[in-house]
Amino acid sequence: MTDKAWKPKRVGGSAPESSSKEYLVELSMPSSEGKTGLEKILSSIDGIRIKTGKEAEVPALVILELAENPEETYSLIREMTKTAKGTEIFLTSSKLESTILLEAMRAGTKEFLAQPIRQQEVEEAIARFKERAAVTGNVKSEDRQKIGKVLAFFGGKGGVGTTSIAVNLAAALKKMSSTSSVVLVDVNQHGGDLPLYLDLQPNHSFRDIAADPSRLDLAFLTRVLAKAESGLPVLPSGYDDLSTGRLSPDCVETTLKLLQANFDFVVIDCGHVLDLTTKKALELATSIYVASTLIVPVVHRTKRILELLRGSGFAPQKIRLIMNRYLSAEQDVLKETEEILKQKTFWTIPNDYPSVSQAVNSGKPIIEVAPRSPVAKSFMDLAGSVDESAVQSSSKGGLSAWFSPFKGRRTESAPSRA
Ligand SMILES: Nc1ncnc2c1ncn2[C@@H]1O[C@H](COP(=O)(O)OP(=O)(O)OP(=O)(O)O)[C@@H](O)[C@H]1O
Ligand SMILES: [Mg+2]
Repeated sequence: MTDKAWKPKRVGGSAPESSSKEYLVELSMPSSEGKTGLEKILSSIDGIRIKTGKEAEVPALVILELAENPEETYSLIREMTKTAKGTEIFLTSSKLESTILLEAMRAGTKEFLAQPIRQQEVEEAIARFKERAAVTGNVKSEDRQKIGKVLAFFGGKGGVGTTSIAVNLAAALKKMSSTSSVVLVDVNQHGGDLPLYLDLQPNHSFRDIAADPSRLDLAFLTRVLAKAESGLPVLPSGYDDLSTGRLSPDCVETTLKLLQANFDFVVIDCGHVLDLTTKKALELATSIYVASTLIVPVVHRTKRILELLRGSGFAPQKIRLIMNRYLSAEQDVLKETEEILKQKTFWTIPNDYPSVSQAVNSGKPIIEVAPRSPVAKSFMDLAGSVDESAVQSSSKGGLSAWFSPFKGRRTESAPSRA
């Protein structure tokens, strides 16, 4: 890959510490000839830095090459303009038909660079890009960089509802706020079945990233994300116990950092096996939600998991216990269990097998199939608790109706002693 063969060169002569003032440009081009030419020209332009391998930084400009099937490129451009607002997209191709130019512009392309690449054309396009950036004032990467919340869900034991919780919380977060962006990620490599919960048959997964992690950039990431019916982007694991290969901690780290830079919420299903890969996801998490139920073997394993997490140096305030399938008559059992676990419950989710299984079997979130059920309301409330700001910014009517009857669902905002 040519990425390894070259080093970005700054002709402007700025000291390295001024690099944050540069415009970061990502070249997403399979053809090496056009790419090499563009790299050469761009690296001679002052204030432009070409994105290299592993940086989890949102580029100010992405230059895409038209794919064999132009429709693929148009839909990628449309997705990218939605995900990375403020990032400009240029298209380059040796095909110069007017219909291609028109469709590309309609999809959201700002400039078209004809191949073979001409220096003057590139310089003029970059000059116009800089002018627009100066007007909007938000194109430099440090202004647009998100530091999304990473919410990791880990099962105290298999089958406790970890995937159901991750899927439904992500759906609730998405429904709650039109301004916050949410992505749902499956890092469970022992039974990565998350797409089934949203009736998805994805073509891509972590496997595509793992095949060549150096390819990971905004354009590539946008390509591998599947879209649920509601528009929720999903990154499937692609691994299970029966498949070959393993998801590496490095691959998870690079991917999660890039997702965090592009989305307000990164919701992760970590499954229930604590291996190096899951541990990496938990390390990167803003909060770790350990899912459990009030069943003796589950409590037993949850206790071990909590001890392991505390013993591994995870900050106690980062760990939150979710008690799934909870019945209000079980208040005393819950109290006893909290003592055993040495952990207060952060949230309880009611037991509602008909609603939850109807949702799973229809491949839709519970808030869609049973919006008035207590379990759906519990998920909306949980989403509100992880995004207080979204609650305030949401329209009054729709949301206040969700919140009032379930205020007491959160049993404790801070976890107990470690
Ligand atoms: N709140 C709930 N009320 C009733 N049933 C539930 C609830 N949450 C989950 N379930 C049911 O529990 C079962 C397991 O759920 P889920 O697949 O989400 O668990 P998991 O922890 O991800 O499992 P795995 O270990 O296989 O990944 C499903 O049949 C689901 O419908
Ligand atoms: Mg699961």
